[in-house]
This record gives sequence, structure tokens and C-alpha cells, in this order.
Amino acid sequence: MTVTQLAYLGFEVSDLSAWASFGTEVLGMERVDEGADGSFKLRMDRRNWRLAIHPGPADDLAYVGWEVSDLLGPIEALEARGVEVGWGHDLTGERAVESLCFFDDPAGVRTELVTGSAQQLDPFHSPKLLGGFVAGQLGLGHVVLTANDKAESRRFYEETLGFRLSDTIVTRYFGYDIDMDFFHANPRHHSLAFGGPQPKKLNHFLLEVDRLDDVGLCMDRTLKAGLPLVQTLGRHPNDGMLSFYAQTPSGFNFECGWGGREVDASTWQPTTYDRLSEWGHHPPMVLSPRKPK
Ligand SMILES: [Fe+2]
Repeated sequence: MTVTQLAYLGFEVSDLSAWASFGTEVLGMERVDEGADGSFKLRMDRRNWRLAIHPGPADDLAYVGWEVSDLLGPIEALEARGVEVGWGHDLTGERAVESLCFFDDPAGVRTELVTGSAQQLDPFHSPKLLGGFVAGQLGLGHVVLTANDKAESRRFYEETLGFRLSDTIVTRYFGYDIDMDFFHANPRHHSLAFGGPQPKKLNHFLLEVDRLDDVGLCMDRTLKAGLPLVQTLGRHPNDGMLSFYAQTPSGFNFECGWGGREVDASTWQPTTYDRLSEWGHHPPMVLSPRKPK
């Protein structure tokens, strides 16, 4: 396999201070690496950083960083498909990596492949979490990206970056047709998923915690911060994740989950599920509290 994990995400956000309190107070990450332009990074494990927050009007994903075991294999596969690949020599210091190349995926998402991400000896302890984040070798979590053409994006990610299909979900969800593919690059059930076009370059990113209570506590902090809940607590059938979804200060969503399944790539057989959730994950609009008499 070529890609070994989801290394980092970079966001361009219009409200830096909202993201600073969201990242530290709601998510429980540590703010590090202040930039002269007001940008900053967020840390969640031994990696120097996992999320980068840049000022700008887009309120969207700016780039995705995938760790690879070797850069030359994917570069050859990308160039064979006619994809223009650039070398990011001037970005290695900023990203704290040894080497970096970049290109746009079929939907125009800036994608960076990196090797040699900087790490720290000291383990990370969140002041907000009872336990810790499930990250490390499994990567920062997962990301659900926009895709103009799901079949084209699937061929691209499988054939150039070595992602493997975990499974597919085809269903209807509160009036929407869902047809999503989920991909693994390491034992995490999925590091990447996509279904179709999204209003922004990503639908959501997931952070996983190792204590169930930290999902509930993160939901409490989310509600206290006034961030809109997007899906109630629920359990997905494919990765087994117990999670909730809410909106970041930039309008795209985040998922906080616990109990994600790991896959053994040597024996894994993809299946198709006919439901998005075993229970829960209701949008708040279906919650209709009974009016007091
Ligand atoms: Fe998710």
C-alpha cells in the first residue's frame, strides 16, 4: 500500500478566534505554531500537528496531507494518468515533513503526499479529554471529500494512491439518496470516503476518542459553544463508530466518535450496506419535542 495514513488537514477560515476556541475548548486539541498571518496549528497526538488553520474567506478545506511510504511510486502513477505533480520543497519546514509533493484530485481538492512527519517524544495529554485521541499510526481520523464522479474518484484513489475499498453504503437518508464508498489505508476502517458533489470540498472530518464518555463530553462542549448539532448520537453499521455530528465555525461538519472497527487488509471483503446507521444519527429537524400542555 502506498498511503499509510491521513497525516493532516489544512482549513481556510474566516473566523480565526472562533476556530481557536473550537479547536481547544470543544475538540480538546492543543494550539501550537502561531504564524505571522494569524494562522495556527492544532495537535492531538505525538505528531507536531494535525490540523492547520489559515485565515481567508473560503471557510473550506485548503489541503489534505496523506503520509506515504514512498513518494516516487505514486508520482509515477499520477504522471502516467496525466496529473500535474509539483514538488513542495519550500513547504517542508511549514508542514514539518521531510519531503512533499502536491497535486489536485479529480474534484479539485489540493492533495499533498508527505514522508517523514516530525514527531515528539512526549505523549499528548488533552486537558479536555478523560482519555486520548485514537490517532498515531491510524492517522488523524477520516475525511469525507467531495467527488464530482464517484466512480472516477474511486479509480483515481485506488490506482494512484493504493487505497482499498472497505465497503459501500447505498440508502436513502431523510429524503437524500446516499451512495458512498469508504476506503482504508491502514487498519482504521476508513480514512477516506466520498459519495458525490458536496457544497464544500469536504463534508466532514472525524476525530476518534478512546473513551465513550469523551464523545458525550465533546457533545456537551459543542452544545455549550452554540455550534449546531447536525446528527444526534448514532452507530454506523460499517465502521461501528458511535458518534455525533455538528458544524464547525466554517459551516462544514465534524464527527466525534468512539469504538471504530479495525480491518485486516489481507482478509477484508467489501460489502454493501443498505443503511447509514444502526440507530440514531437523526438530523435535529426530526426531533419534535412534545409541547407542554
Ligand atoms: Fe464519518
